[in-house]
Amino acid sequence: VLSGMRATGKLHLGHYFGAIKNWVDLQDRYQCYYFSADWHALTSDYADPSSVATWSVEAVADWLAAGIDPERSVIFIQSLVPEHAELQLLLSMLTPLGWLERVPTYKEQIREVKNKDLATYGFLGYPVLQTADILTYRGDFVPVGEDQASHLELSREITRRFNSFYGEVFPEPKALFTPTPRVPGVDGRKMSKSYDNAINLSDPPETIRQKCSGMFTDPKRLRRNDPGHPETCNLFQFHRLVSPQETQDRVETECRLAQIGCVDDKKLLAEQLIEFLAPIREKREEILAHRDTLMDILYEGSRRARERAVETMELVRAAVSLDYRRQV
Ligand code: TRP
Repeated sequence: VLSGMRATGKLHLGHYFGAIKNWVDLQDRYQCYYFSADWHALTSDYADPSSVATWSVEAVADWLAAGIDPERSVIFIQSLVPEHAELQLLLSMLTPLGWLERVPTYKEQIREVKNKDLATYGFLGYPVLQTADILTYRGDFVPVGEDQASHLELSREITRRFNSFYGEVFPEPKALFTPTPRVPGVDGRKMSKSYDNAINLSDPPETIRQKCSGMFTDPKRLRRNDPGHPETCNLFQFHRLVSPQETQDRVETECRLAQIGCVDDKKLLAEQLIEFLAPIREKREEILAHRDTLMDILYEGSRRARERAVETMELVRAAVSLDYRRQV
């Protein structure tokens, strides 16, 4: 199992429910490789990369706080394993431009992100690098959120194309989609740092209360006395993720009967979120207070990752007829 996460800011609930929670569970059943994708962060943050390394490391603190176990899983930083870049280059040779231009997330980001120029070679090649990440470990399974479906499909196509030209070097990677539904942001769109609508795992209680108070609720409930519709209310989607079942049931009933107003519901949700995140936040702070231990984990993980990567690249160079040891 192999998965990565772009380090472009603090981790939020979307990352937690869309990925990390699943990563934690997979450790019981598979040998897992998890990494901070700092090069992927550069595809959008190239103009000011000064925070990428910090975020890469802090993201790992969140993973560990959430239950990723460095004893069992290989945890590393993408750029500390330069073999990814070599494989990305080789894959780029055989990836048709049309495949990349058709990726829906590519088109969406080009449309939605206004404050950065994403019309670059590197950004178009994002899924090629992601494919290289996976193939470097000859990964079988890739746990991702549903937003990554088109990337994974492309990875499979690139893999088939490579194998058809050069022989069966790689297994076709399969997506393991996280069972959790999409996590909305405070404005109801998908939770994303670039939409500025996220609740971060490290948010202190006051910030959570403030963000909750600005949340979008049921658009059809205009007055306090109108009955609500939990099934279409953004707040209720959050309750489903973090609140105990009895709280969910109570809110659902009281909202439909207009017994609880949106303002009170926001306050209630804020407290549920705070309680849910408290253990992660505390453990995270403890980990970040011992940065040298954290860095040791990452160096050791990157060393172990590289062992596998070096092995793969020997197979790959032979497959693409660039094994110069055969020339002597
Ligand atoms: N594109 C992924 C995301 O945004 C991150 C990622 C980079 C990744 N390389 C990967 C995920 C390899 C799975 C496998 O979440």
